[in-house]
Amino acid sequence: MHRFAYRNGVLHAEDASLEAIASEVGTPFYCYSEATLREHLRAFEEAFAGLDVLIAYSVKANPNLAVIRVLASEGAGADVVSGGELRRALAAGVPAQKIVFSGVGKTREEMALALEEGIYQFNIESGPELDTLNEIAGSRGARAPIAVRINPDIAAGGHEKISTGRAADKFGVAWTRARELYVRAARMAGVEIKGVDIHIGSQISDLAPFRAAFEKVADVVKDLRTDGISIERIDIGGGLGISYGEGRDAPLTDDYAALIREIIAPLGVKIVVEPGRAIVGEAGVLVTRVLYDKENEWRRFLVLDAGMNDLIRPALYGSFHAFAPVRGPIDGASPVVVDIVGPVCESSDVFAKERALPVMRAGDLGVFMTAGAYGAALASQYNSRPLIPEVMVRGGRWAIIRKRPTFEQTIAAEPLPDWL
Ligand code: LLP
Repeated sequence: MHRFAYRNGVLHAEDASLEAIASEVGTPFYCYSEATLREHLRAFEEAFAGLDVLIAYSVKANPNLAVIRVLASEGAGADVVSGGELRRALAAGVPAQKIVFSGVGKTREEMALALEEGIYQFNIESGPELDTLNEIAGSRGARAPIAVRINPDIAAGGHEKISTGRAADKFGVAWTRARELYVRAARMAGVEIKGVDIHIGSQISDLAPFRAAFEKVADVVKDLRTDGISIERIDIGGGLGISYGEGRDAPLTDDYAALIREIIAPLGVKIVVEPGRAIVGEAGVLVTRVLYDKENEWRRFLVLDAGMNDLIRPALYGSFHAFAPVRGPIDGASPVVVDIVGPVCESSDVFAKERALPVMRAGDLGVFMTAGAYGAALASQYNSRPLIPEVMVRGGRWAIIRKRPTFEQTIAAEPLPDWL
């Protein structure tokens, strides 16, 4: 569910007209609905009601400070994967005691920062990383709370590039070798074993891989307990898929939670869950303007002012994003088939091929739906296109939550060597 709908033929975010925002902010820009963010977080809270759970929003999906602040105000924690994300989460008001730190390549500086701040948990992805954390915490007389991320060797996820739980992926520690690492960790003075962690991929659109992974985690926990290692938390990662309007339904938060109640809850642990996309995905759209309606011998193209540098998911993963005009289609108007493309000088700068759309002309506004997750987060300045603004809507109010940088600001970070 989301709060983007037509009113009097114009697409609104909650009570704010996207046309009105576009005329002030200029295009392209991302627009988020605050109410949708809150509703999605509450849906998680309700689905897990009665369980001892920490919902640690996965900041990578959308790291905007205002987005994190909204979720923090609903009680969310944060899953972070860098010192930058950790500092953002803290700056947005997430208490350190609700922050988990994941990722295969934490630096010594990042570990020290997280220890100083007193985060809830480090998710450890290898033996060498465990040794490093033990050394850094030990040298400060501290004990770092840890979970080991186990790799369950399960294929899952919406795309080859976002599957993380197969044996050959770089993530985690093979589930068959987890036991020996825990035994080693149990003897370390600088770490304190708290739990087990897993994350198998993203945009997972059926529950079967989750079931298989959770069952493996449950087995590992039982083995560890037999070895006398106490496990009080299980971090089940993120990955719950959403529907992009491509005609495929995603599992519901409630069904996902039911699976966790069935397999994880009986272990009597605190549950950490790290949703990203399921919270922010539907809460954002990318608003863009048609520059040209271009036809050649073979095809008709809609050339937009948004490009792959602003929303790379279609180019990178072949992802589907629904596209719609901001001025609602006139009933009965027959659609045309177009390729929707951006202005970037790459053949991969294509948002959709052969999409049936109502006729749109130069100057018309359109939106890519479901662009709140991994949209702005993955944007770049390729072709020297500045990062685009982000706007948040609350009811009829809206505010810019990321400014469009000026050309001067962009080049100010590029000092010329004194010999030039
Ligand atoms: N926890 C960990 C350890 C992760 O690596 C991720 C995502 C999440 C949680 C959140 O997963 P989510 O609930 O959002 O599926 N750029 C890709 C997705 C990459 C996901 C990376 N890890 C995309 O645009 O589809």
